[in-house]
Amino acid sequence: METQAVKPRRVGTKLTRLLSLNVAPAKPAASAQVSREKSRHTGTETPTPTLTQWLLYCRPGFEQDCAQETLRQARQHKPVIAEQSDLINNSGYAVVALNEQALSFRELIFARQLIRLHHSIAALPDRDRLTPILNAITALPGNFGALWLEVPDTNDGKTLSAFVRRFQPLLETALREQGRLLDDIKSARLHIFFPDKASVLIGSSDPYNSSPALMGIARQSIPAEAPSRSTLKLAEAIETFMDKSEQTRLLRSGMTAVDLGAAPGGWTWQMVSRGIRVTAVDNGPMKGVLAKHPLVEHLKQDGFKYAPRKAVDWLICDMVEKPAKVAELISAWFVAGWCKHAIFNLKLPMKQRVAALDAALGGIRTRLDEEGISYKLQAKQLYHDREEITVFLSKTKNR
Ligand SMILES: C[S@@+](CC[C@H](N)C(=O)[O-])C[C@H]1O[C@@H](n2cnc3c(N)ncnc32)[C@H](O)[C@@H]1O
Repeated sequence: METQAVKPRRVGTKLTRLLSLNVAPAKPAASAQVSREKSRHTGTETPTPTLTQWLLYCRPGFEQDCAQETLRQARQHKPVIAEQSDLINNSGYAVVALNEQALSFRELIFARQLIRLHHSIAALPDRDRLTPILNAITALPGNFGALWLEVPDTNDGKTLSAFVRRFQPLLETALREQGRLLDDIKSARLHIFFPDKASVLIGSSDPYNSSPALMGIARQSIPAEAPSRSTLKLAEAIETFMDKSEQTRLLRSGMTAVDLGAAPGGWTWQMVSRGIRVTAVDNGPMKGVLAKHPLVEHLKQDGFKYAPRKAVDWLICDMVEKPAKVAELISAWFVAGWCKHAIFNLKLPMKQRVAALDAALGGIRTRLDEEGISYKLQAKQLYHDREEITVFLSKTKNR
């Protein structure tokens, strides 16, 4: 059985404790440095694991969930023995300490961004914030492909935007003069994260294992014709889960889709705008251009009882229901061969959200595995998701 010395999670209100922790210096990618100390008793060398701290951005209010699933992913690699710092409730970020485990951003549901933390400064002087930050960056090895100054996605964070805009060119100019900043999308990004004006967390992200968006937020603009803001969720899901070539391959004009819980039509709109024919199932009315659209057939039926006459390419589903019930429905569609790809929402319960998701997503995996169906499954709490997450499930080549 796994043993580990992680202290019980506490939600703190002060940043001081977090910032007082020692942070491992930057390491060249993929080099697991293990310092060795001689045991006084045996004279043998005992490996002391290097502590690495990770800074993760998340939706405010989901710090516990974000840290919980990150630690769980790390434990699948090896026991976590690092002591954890307090989380700050509603801060929009979490810091997790690990002893050498690797993390996969793609597999994390609640993390908007994954940053290896190198340095933190708890008390920046009012008159000169630049010098201590530059000194900290000077101590880091290597150059950086981009400089991202970021703040938490909170009301307090928004008040820092003007300050960050003023500060960015100062830091950028200094780093360019030092030759530390290259314009290279393949090199590590340097993140300067201000939880407030007086403190800063300095870290870097791997462009191949992180979000490509500033603050981990893939903003979308609402199309004038779309009948609801929910359209942004599906637009973001498409951008997040599929690269450009997958989007071209999997979302083609002439394809077919079923939208369960379609009204007033924001998700349906995303499909018809790509030339996809949609059966929109909802007792509520479809609105705007979708009330009478040549590519839309509106059926006033129960989405849990509806069965398509013919298999479709896509199932999209945004019904407000328990995650377990939606997961069962989605599994049933794949097992029956009624669709090849799906994007659906799982509405989160107030408590035990990670456990509820484990059960729902685990249920889908078990069912599809039992049927010998090969698939790709990815889940994220998107920027446009509130108390919910979005899941992409796609059938791949059969085994
Ligand atoms: C969040 S809204 C969907 C918004 C939609 N995706 C959009 O972009 O405009 C949820 C919808 O699910 C529908 N709904 C809930 N339970 C349903 C059921 N059992 N069958 C069909 N529709 C259902 C509701 O009527 C509601 O319109």
